[in-house]
Amino acid sequence: MEDTTRLNVSKLGTKKYWDDFYALERENFSKNPEDTGECWFDDNGAEERMVEFLVDNDGELRISTQSKMIDLGTGNGHLLFELCENDFDGPMVGVDYSEESVQFASHISKAKGYDTNTSFMAADIFDSSWSPGKFDIVLDKGTLDAIALSGKKFANDKTVIDVYSTVIEKLLESGGIFLITSCNFTEQELINIVQTDRLKVWKRINYPVYEFGGVKGTTICSVAFVKQ
Ligand SMILES: C[S@@+](CC[C@H](N)C(=O)[O-])C[C@H]1O[C@@H](n2cnc3c(N)ncnc32)[C@H](O)[C@@H]1O
Repeated sequence: MEDTTRLNVSKLGTKKYWDDFYALERENFSKNPEDTGECWFDDNGAEERMVEFLVDNDGELRISTQSKMIDLGTGNGHLLFELCENDFDGPMVGVDYSEESVQFASHISKAKGYDTNTSFMAADIFDSSWSPGKFDIVLDKGTLDAIALSGKKFANDKTVIDVYSTVIEKLLESGGIFLITSCNFTEQELINIVQTDRLKVWKRINYPVYEFGGVKGTTICSVAFVKQ
């Protein structure tokens, strides 16, 4: 069967692209404090649906308003701030390899008063010496999509796609949840990338289905995995 999970290398897969992107967003925020930057997949209501998913599943497995969470490739940190707005007040960490993103998210957090339970750190999630501890919930909104465009390779010619699930396993407590949203991968491709003996599909978020020329599909998907 054809491997459809290989993507082309693009500037969206480079740290420089994201440093420049968040430097500009920081500048915009300094001029207008209401401008907290781009909210990825806003058109699809992805952030809203991810938060709603966690609200609806409060009490299941390790999901609670006190859950310890980490957002991978957090960008402007908006997903974590939205969780704060929905009464999640456990410790939340946003990690991003762009220091500009970390400074931007930290600045917003402080300015808007979310800094009692959110914190931000600069790290490459593939750095083997990065060890932030274990979490009840790991989040990814659009980050695997960007990572897949990096063309980065590891030992034995392994790609970021090959090693991504080991990063998730390292970060999750047993019974913890990994909730990911992608617009570059289909639901089945996401499952092929993430699912392992220890990470199993738990639930999915439903999005409106479009139909064109007799073909049905969605432009975005979110899947929740549970660590065994
Ligand atoms: C498409 S943006 C999504 C940002 C945010 N999750 C959102 O929904 O607005 C991808 C993010 O992943 C970050 N990123 C890419 N590769 C990374 C890596 N290896 N480690 C940490 N962050 C990374 C980028 O700096 C960028 O902020």
